[in-house]
Amino acid sequence: MKKYYEAYDDRYRQVHNEKNLAWAGEAHSPTIEKLLIKYGATINSSILEIGCGEGQNAIYLLSQGYNVIASDVSSEAIDWCKQKAEVKKVNEKAFFVMDVLSNKFSKKFDFIYSVAVLHMLVDDEDRHKFLQFIFNHLKPDGKAFIIVMGDGVTTRKTDKTKAFDLTDRQFGNDTIRVVTTSCRMVTKDEFASEIERANLKILNLYLDHKISGFSVSMVAEVERNK
Ligand SMILES: C[S@@+](CC[C@H](N)C(=O)[O-])C[C@H]1O[C@@H](n2cnc3c(N)ncnc32)[C@H](O)[C@@H]1O
Repeated sequence: MKKYYEAYDDRYRQVHNEKNLAWAGEAHSPTIEKLLIKYGATINSSILEIGCGEGQNAIYLLSQGYNVIASDVSSEAIDWCKQKAEVKKVNEKAFFVMDVLSNKFSKKFDFIYSVAVLHMLVDDEDRHKFLQFIFNHLKPDGKAFIIVMGDGVTTRKTDKTKAFDLTDRQFGNDTIRVVTTSCRMVTKDEFASEIERANLKILNLYLDHKISGFSVSMVAEVERNK
């Protein structure tokens, strides 16, 4: 049986099959490259994306020559990314299915980033596992950029048993019926506490209005506690 945070897999299938269009569109978020540059990434730096969805950020970074691999728990999302990668002439082998809550690598990365994934995790335990994965897979001087939906003050927690229920959502000019996905929005202070509980050090934590698909997001730049 699928876990509550896998509802996006069904949603992607619905939109891709019904519309042959991406749910999230193709615009990447310039924030990621800006942060990679800020922290001195080169084309030799190893970079991991967690929850890449339809791959707009990783495809852009690959097209710029960055050494990115990108993962998502949704096999539909990864199939979509591979097809897009072929069209955009970037390495389709960079994309792979991975559940960040249960998978592990022996490899560690110079950079890890994740856009709009942590806010899908409703349970405290799952959120902690997500942050622990980052701690466990960063090199000692590595940096991670964790971007979550939220304005820093509003809180929201959906009932995870309702994930997969059908709902009407606006899609361009149409209304389409898709599955519900889970959501947990936390305050900036709560976000900071969760990060610190996973033994990660916050270098910067702020609001960003430039994340594609979201009116406002929180961005945390973090590293491992030394
Ligand atoms: C709101 S979408 C964001 C996708 C993409 N990062 C973007 O900005 O468009 C959340 C993504 O997180 C993925 N996801 C949820 N739980 C996950 C997990 N445990 N491991 C890996 N990916 C996960 C979903 O499949 C979905 O693609």
